[in-house]
Amino acid sequence: MNEFPVLQTKRLILRAFKMNDAPVVQFLAGDFAIADTTSTIPHPYPNGAAEDWISTHETDLLMDRGIDWAIARRQDSCLIGAITIRIKENEKAEIGYWIGKPYWGQGYCSEAAQEVLEYGFLVKGLNRIYAFHFSRNPASGRVMQKIGMNQEGILRHHEKRWGKYEDLVVYGILRTEFNQINSTN
Ligand SMILES: CC(C)(COP(=O)(O)OP(=O)(O)OC[C@H]1O[C@@H](n2cnc3c(N)ncnc32)[C@H](O)[C@@H]1OP(=O)(O)O)[C@@H](O)C(=O)NCCC(=O)NCCS
Repeated sequence: MNEFPVLQTKRLILRAFKMNDAPVVQFLAGDFAIADTTSTIPHPYPNGAAEDWISTHETDLLMDRGIDWAIARRQDSCLIGAITIRIKENEKAEIGYWIGKPYWGQGYCSEAAQEVLEYGFLVKGLNRIYAFHFSRNPASGRVMQKIGMNQEGILRHHEKRWGKYEDLVVYGILRTEFNQINSTN
């Protein structure tokens, strides 16, 4: 059985979601500012959706399809967001994340994403990790840059969200690049 990989950074703990996190997930992710720039978070956020989402995590972990971490602050255990790694073929994976609006701009997402990159390359033995953001969401692109990802291209009108086409910016990092950055730090 796969044990859930709890990760720690200076300020954060990345742990499994528990069913009793659902009301906080619904409250934070229920803000349109969160749903707006993600591909899948519904708005309005329906009752029961957080519980349904949390209930998928155990199987994803067991099947080695992916891991969904709750991002909590170490100082007060406050749940502030979520970060996910989706394992794909050929030793590659996609990451995605959101941070509750009251906690934006404090470096929390970059800190969590850096730790997830380390986990992906050093523990899971991945060769490539990539991520997408809507072109109108530069804060997410900045997170990708800060963790050492390179912009690889733009998929024009690749998605339709809220009735409008979205350009997707693709970022990625290879294991060799990750090792190089982290051996010089
Ligand atoms: C994107 C998101 C996860 C960032 O979380 P965060 O914890 O605020 O991120 P960080 O503080 O680690 O880094 C944000 C960076 O973006 C920068 N930034 C913020 N708004 C920006 C803007 N409009 N243009 C350019 N950069 C911006 C910040 O200054 C910071 O960079 P810096 O440290 O160099 O100053 C958060 O805004 C969010 O959850 N948004 C809604 C959901 C979402 O879009 N998820 C990602 C889908 S791809």
